[in-house]
This record gives sequence, structure tokens and C-alpha cells, in this order.
Amino acid sequence: MATVRSRSRFRRDDGTGIVPEGFFAQLYDRSLDPWDYESSAYEVRKYALTLAVLPRARYERAYEPGCSIGTLSSDLAPRCGRLLCADFSPTAVARARARLAHFPHVSVEEHELPADYPGERFDLVLLGDLCMYLTRSRLDELTEKVVASLEVGGHLVAAHGHHLSPDIFQSGDQVHARIRRHPCLDKLAGYRDRAFRLDVWERRS
Ligand SMILES: C[S@@+](CC[C@H](N)C(=O)[O-])C[C@H]1O[C@@H](n2cnc3c(N)ncnc32)[C@H](O)[C@@H]1O
Repeated sequence: MATVRSRSRFRRDDGTGIVPEGFFAQLYDRSLDPWDYESSAYEVRKYALTLAVLPRARYERAYEPGCSIGTLSSDLAPRCGRLLCADFSPTAVARARARLAHFPHVSVEEHELPADYPGERFDLVLLGDLCMYLTRSRLDELTEKVVASLEVGGHLVAAHGHHLSPDIFQSGDQVHARIRRHPCLDKLAGYRDRAFRLDVWERRS
């Protein structure tokens, strides 16, 4: 299992910490597509597998926080009755809105997680390369909110890379190990390779 060896530069001495929106603002200022979502082999494969593992052909109400510029969202949208996308970067939200404007059933909002988690019910929540930017306690808070928002039988799909950097708090393996401790989640499927891991959980009760 990959572990984070370097201490996150955003970690405070009391174990708390936050990767500020300004860190992402700089990335979005430098590039229209900071992670090369449209061409990177890692991202293209991660997105294809993420869509392929979805247990249902169609979801009524899905939530994709940390949607960045909306690349995966545009492929997910045709499978959803309604799709709520969110990011805490205003630049990412503007770019995702532009990309998704032709889908009337898709909305993109500014949410900082876990604080701004919406008080709605979903049958699908997608977390992609987002949770490594959260401390363990903020991830636990997010997981609680995700599970509370999921309908019984609804799905949580998470995909996180193993790449380590001083910008993150946890590796993908650590993130998924933490999520799977939740007592109301049953694991339906999992995939792991040298680049990332992908897991599907269903809310049991
Ligand atoms: C690496 S990108 C992941 C994009 C996409 N979900 C994927 O799977 O490729 C991470 C995104 O999460 C956003 N983000 C990071 N921390 C966040 C937080 N606490 N609340 C909301 N968005 C956050 C960043 O602005 C960035 O757009």
C-alpha cells in the first residue's frame, strides 16, 4: 500500500490543515486544463474505467464534487436525470459551466468540501482525485455527509491516484481505506493498478 512519506506542507502542528483554494487558483491561472484531462493517458483511462464500473446504466440524481473543468461530468451527464457538479475554485466552476452549458439538467456550483456539502439526496456520488487534499478528519466528515446524502441502495464511486506530493494529506490507498470503514457502506467492486485505485460502495442502510 502506498503511504505518504512527506509531511504535507499544508499540515498544521495540531494535525489539522487545508489545501487552500488559492493553491488551485494558481494552477488554473497557469493552464486551461491543469491536469491535462483531455489528453493524459492516466486521466482518460481513469475516466473510462470510472464510467464503466457504474453499477447502473442511469442515475436519477448524481453529485460530482471536485469536478474541475467538467471533463468527466460531460461524459457522465447523459447517464443522469440530474447532475450537480461542484468545485471550490471559481475558475474551475466557470470552465465547467461553459463546457456543460448544453446540458439543461446539469448545474455547477461553488462548494468547499466538506463544509458546503448540499442538503439533498443522491443515488450516485462520485469522488475523483479530491480526497487526498483533505486531512483524515475532514475526509471522515465528508464520508459521513456522503453516506447521509445517499439513498439506501445508492452508490459512492471513488477514484484516487497513488501519486504523492507535498501538496496532499493522504495517498489514494489511505483515502479508500478510510472510506471503507464506514459501517453503512458495502463494497460492490474494486480495481487497483500502479496508477490509481477505484472502488464502488453501496449504501446498505
Ligand atoms: C485533481 S482535481 C480532480 C478533478 C476530477 N474530479 C478528477 O477526478 O479528475 C481536484 C479538484 O478538486 C478541487 N478541490 C480541492 N479541494 C477541494 C475542496 N476542499 N472542496 C471543493 N473542491 C476542492 C480543486 O479545485 C480541483 O478542481
